[in-house]
Amino acid sequence: MVKPKVLITGASKGLGLAMAKKLSKDYTLILHASKDESIREFREGNYLLTADLANPEELKEFCKKLKTEHGEDLYGVINNAGIALDKPLLFQPEKDIEKMMAVNLKAPIIISKTAMKIFGLKNKGVIINVSSCVAETGNAFQSVYAATKAGLIAFSKSLAKEAAALYQDHQIRVLSISPGFIQTPMTDAIPESEKEKYLRMIPAQRFGKADEIAETIAFLLSDKAPYINGSNIDINGGLF
Ligand SMILES: NC(=O)c1ccc[n+]([C@@H]2O[C@H](COP(=O)([O-])OP(=O)(O)OC[C@H]3O[C@@H](n4cnc5c(N)ncnc54)[C@H](OP(=O)(O)O)[C@@H]3O)[C@@H](O)[C@H]2O)c1
Repeated sequence: MVKPKVLITGASKGLGLAMAKKLSKDYTLILHASKDESIREFREGNYLLTADLANPEELKEFCKKLKTEHGEDLYGVINNAGIALDKPLLFQPEKDIEKMMAVNLKAPIIISKTAMKIFGLKNKGVIINVSSCVAETGNAFQSVYAATKAGLIAFSKSLAKEAAALYQDHQIRVLSISPGFIQTPMTDAIPESEKEKYLRMIPAQRFGKADEIAETIAFLLSDKAPYINGSNIDINGGLF
């Protein structure tokens, strides 16, 4: 049987890599990162489709290839790639603001647009956007990052409603997840003193593991979750 295809953006490391590991049994993966060399695992039997999501031309080409090369079997899109360029807003260069907006918010929107065209033809498909707990709590020195992530939640809820407005008897779902503090290369970069501060705020008394996010993604993607739609799922050990 042909395995349905799932695109994972940012699949080279961290959460995206854990998702690739978890999903590789049941799906054919379209693995994305900023460049081919970034992707070192799960290449065999899967596809590579890379692009710098901050570059509009590369994003356009990426979406074109997603539709023409993978449209037929595409079942799922996980918009996971993201960047956090933490700084007080007062000192945040405009180019950093633009980059976070482009990678964290604009790219998932444009990729979702392509996915909706594909899913609309077969009335089936799932989009999961990776937001963040800071979208709901706010966080000092992450105001722009948090804004992009909050945008993803509103976008997902609206697009879920839009699918219902456009398609009859459809099985198209759009969701977001909001991880808390999960151990990945992104959070490894945070100073130890900051990490201790976060740890004191987490009722589970530990940081999350990338596998725990991947487990939730696998469930949300599957036909075990047909009634979870438009939702934002918090996976944060109680951090609020
Ligand atoms: N870790 C956490 O605690 C946490 C919490 C909440 C939300 N999140 C969100 O979860 C997602 C994954 O986070 P992570 O911790 O796994 O991050 P990570 O380890 O830093 O990995 C980021 C991924 O995004 C890709 N990426 C970054 N900039 C890109 C660009 N300009 N174009 C294309 N790809 C780009 C990277 O590809 P390259 O390897 O090619 O650079 C990499 O695959 C992000 O959206 C993040 O905001 C993470």
